[in-house]
Amino acid sequence: MAQLWGGRFTKETDQLVYHFNASITFDRRFFYQDVRGSIAHVTMLAAVGILTEEERDRMIHGLESIVDDVNAGTLEITEEYEDIHSFVEANLIDRIGEAGKKLHTGRSRNDQVALDMKLYVRDELSAIRDGLLRIMRVLHRLMKDNIDTYMPGFTHLQKAQPITFAHHIGAYMEMFKRDESRLHDIYERMNYCPLGAGALAGTTYPLDREMTAKLLGFYGPTLNSMDSVADRDYVIELLSACATIMTHLSRFSEEIILWNSNEYQFVELDDAYSTGSSIMPQKKNPDIAELVRGKTGRVYAALQSILTTMKGLPLAYNKDMQEDKEWTFDAIDTVKTCLTLFTGMLDTMTLRKDRMEESAKMGFTNATDAADYLVNHGVAFRDAHKIVGQLVLYCMERGMALEEIPLEELQAISPKFEADIYDAISLETCVNKRNTIGAPGQEAMKQVIRMNEKYLNEREGKWHE
Ligand code: ARG
Repeated sequence: MAQLWGGRFTKETDQLVYHFNASITFDRRFFYQDVRGSIAHVTMLAAVGILTEEERDRMIHGLESIVDDVNAGTLEITEEYEDIHSFVEANLIDRIGEAGKKLHTGRSRNDQVALDMKLYVRDELSAIRDGLLRIMRVLHRLMKDNIDTYMPGFTHLQKAQPITFAHHIGAYMEMFKRDESRLHDIYERMNYCPLGAGALAGTTYPLDREMTAKLLGFYGPTLNSMDSVADRDYVIELLSACATIMTHLSRFSEEIILWNSNEYQFVELDDAYSTGSSIMPQKKNPDIAELVRGKTGRVYAALQSILTTMKGLPLAYNKDMQEDKEWTFDAIDTVKTCLTLFTGMLDTMTLRKDRMEESAKMGFTNATDAADYLVNHGVAFRDAHKIVGQLVLYCMERGMALEEIPLEELQAISPKFEADIYDAISLETCVNKRNTIGAPGQEAMKQVIRMNEKYLNEREGKWHE
């Protein structure tokens, strides 16, 4: 048992208590962030005269050697330590002796862990953002290639009106654009440094909090030391953004599963992204999409967990907050993996354009346009709706499409129909006459695709440092 405290205790900690309390098994993830924070802290301590330059250099060198040894595998982060902070400090003292004991001057584990969590979340925000940008690049390509790939658009999972594959994919593009902007908002709000808040009430040392903040790439220091150690809003926001990303991926998964089914056959997933059945030799299953849909639950659970942890906590730090980590790590890992796999699956799937177009033709998706045609020829919309409804029934009884009804038969139902009706209700016309921005028509789609291109190019590169 390696603990940073114990001076006021007369008994050893009970073994069960020790393990219940310890966090090393999961906060070892913060190793690099913890060292980075310590290097900034001692740099600042030397700048304000609390450490000598020589002490600072020995400490930084010691900290760097710990990182080297962990990277090389010669030093292991074991459960012998209570938490990652103890691991780093104990090893530093082992290596450089007395000077190492000054590492924690003007610092508490409360502001230290708040810093580590922030550094970690900040790194992960940008990693998740990279995942979103990668999936958006694939969506962008699919949109560019498919402005004339016709398919049915659905409401209530019933064929509604014809759209294009580009237009359908474009809906997800908008969702992921909003996700990216949400991550950016979180970054902007959270990017203030809690280090220097101490346990809760700041410190008596003349710390230069501006300097530490700057060294660590923050916009500046946080402005209330109690809030600094008690704030986990950014974790809530991150998990909320992750839950929303998973909602989008899960809805998309559901559609891929449907499209890949024997009934739809709109797409075929690549063999590398499908799995087989142990008993049914003919099967090729969309397990990746199903797992993404399935894993959405655990990310929602993480959000629920942090909200519940935080809701009753008095200021400032409480040990409950140690529970902010494991679910968050799991959610972040899940979102990143799901984004990566989903992107690969999309990038490699084959489109069955013939099947999509056939399906769009067979579901009376041009019925609204047939009614609009009558309206343009002087019929009131409600009457036009009724006439076309009768035509649909007529077709259903005969197993035909609206555009297959001969002109005389159309005219027998409404004399307003003329020879140009066939052009007016062709798939191409139905889609391409819809050209207000946001609609599936080619001109409108090209405009949006140009805007997306600009959007993606502007987002190349990092947010910070
Ligand atoms: N492991 C703790 C956590 O994750 C670090 C902070 C400990 N602070 C304390 N006062 N015991 O929250």
